[in-house]
Amino acid sequence: MDHFNITDGAMHAEQVPLSAIAEAVGTPVYVYSTATIERHARVFREAVTGCGNGAPLVAFAVKANPNGAVLATLARCGFGADVVSEGELLRALHAGMEPGKIVFSGVGKTAAEMARALDAGIGQFNLESEPEAEMLSAVAAAKGVTAPVAYRINPDVDAGTHAKISTGKSENKFGIPYDTAIAAYARVRALPGLSVRGVAVHIGSQLTDLAPLAAAFDRVGQLIAALRADGHTIVTADLGGGLGVPYDPALPAPPTPDAYGAMVRQATAGWDVRLMFEPGRLIVANAGVLLTQVIRVKPGATNPFVIVDAAMNDLLRPSLYDAWHDIRAVSPRDARMTANVVGPVCESGDTFAMGREMGAVEAGDLIVFATAGAYGATMASTYNSRPLTPEVLVSGDRWAVVRERPPIEALIAQDRLPDWLEG
Ligand code: LLP
Repeated sequence: MDHFNITDGAMHAEQVPLSAIAEAVGTPVYVYSTATIERHARVFREAVTGCGNGAPLVAFAVKANPNGAVLATLARCGFGADVVSEGELLRALHAGMEPGKIVFSGVGKTAAEMARALDAGIGQFNLESEPEAEMLSAVAAAKGVTAPVAYRINPDVDAGTHAKISTGKSENKFGIPYDTAIAAYARVRALPGLSVRGVAVHIGSQLTDLAPLAAAFDRVGQLIAALRADGHTIVTADLGGGLGVPYDPALPAPPTPDAYGAMVRQATAGWDVRLMFEPGRLIVANAGVLLTQVIRVKPGATNPFVIVDAAMNDLLRPSLYDAWHDIRAVSPRDARMTANVVGPVCESGDTFAMGREMGAVEAGDLIVFATAGAYGATMASTYNSRPLTPEVLVSGDRWAVVRERPPIEALIAQDRLPDWLEG
C-alpha cells in the first residue's frame, strides 16, 4: 500500500500534486511519501512484535535509501540502522539513530571503519570471515574496548531471487560457511577485544517465497543450540532483511509482513534470544517514485520509443537486473499504447521497459516509475555527465527538497587540471 493516488485526474503524493513538484524542482526527481514510510515501519514492527525476547531491534538497511530525511523519519519510528560502510554509519548517526541500534554488516570493513564504529559505540558487528574477526580484535584491543560481535553465517540456501542479489549460497562471498561455524566461533572466543553475542544471516533480497528464509532460520536455530552446547552465550539472532515487495501488479504479491512474522515466530520459538531484523526494500520501496517527463515519442520498428528525461544513471535497476517498475501517467489519458520506454543515455541498456502496455503518453507528459524508493537514488551515478537526481519528501500537504539537484558546474568543478594542461 502506498500514498501515490490519482485525485481529480492527477497523481498526488499524499496531498501534494506531483505536477507542482515537477514545476518547482524540475525532472527527473525522486518523490517519497512520509505516510508510506511510517506505515511500512509500523506494519513491519507489528508483524515481528512478540517474536524472540523483548522488543526486536529493527535496523533499517541504509543502503536501500540513505537520504538523511528518510533516515530521520525512521529514527523517529524507533528504527536502528544496518550499515555497510563508514559513510552509511555517519549518515545513520547524523540522522539521529542511536549508536546502540546500529549493526555493521559487510565483507570488506576496513580497520579505519572498525575504529570509527567502535568510537561511536555501535550495537553489533556482523563479522563475515575469520580474517575480519582478527582485524577487529586487533583494532578493539588497541583501543582497550570490547566489540560486540556475531558471525554472519552462509547457510547455503538458494533464496530463489535474482542471481545478483542472492547472498546465501556457498559460492557467494557472504558469511562464514555453516559447516565451519562452530570452529570459527571457538577461535573468536580466544581473541581479545571481541565479545560474542549472537548469530546473523541474510540470504538475499526481493524474496518472494518464505521457504528459503525458513530453511536458513532453521539452520540458525540449530547453530545457536550447538554454540550454547559449546559454552557460548548467545543473546541475539539477526535475521537480516530480504522480504520482497510487489513491483508488477500482474504477478502474485510476495508474502505479507504478517505471514513473514508468523513464519519467524514459528521458526524462532524456543531460541531464547533477542531478534534483530534488517529490512530495507520493504520499508521504502513503495514509498518512492521517480518522477520524469516525456521528452518526445520517437517512432520505432516494433513499438514507439517513449524517451523520458530520467535514465539508467537515475534508476539503474531495470538495466542491471531487468527489474520491472510500473509506469504510470501523472495525468492519465483514456487511450492506451504499447511502448519501449527509454532514457537519453547512449546505451541500449538505458531501457526502462520493452513492449510495455501502458496509458498513452505524449511529449511533455509527466510519468512515474513506481516502487522506486528502494535502491533508486542510492544507486544513481553521474554517467553521461548527468547530475545526481534530487529528492523530495512529502508529508501530508507539505513537501521539501531533501536533496538538491547539483548544478552541472559542481560536477565540472570537481575535476582538476594537472599543471601540464594549465594555461
Ligand atoms: N542486510 C544485509 C546484510 C543486506 O546485504 C541487505 C541488502 C539487506 C539487509 C536489506 O535487504 P532488503 O530488505 O532490502 O531486501 N540493489 C539491489 C538490492 C541489493 C540488496 C543488497 N543487500 C536491488 O535493487 O534490487
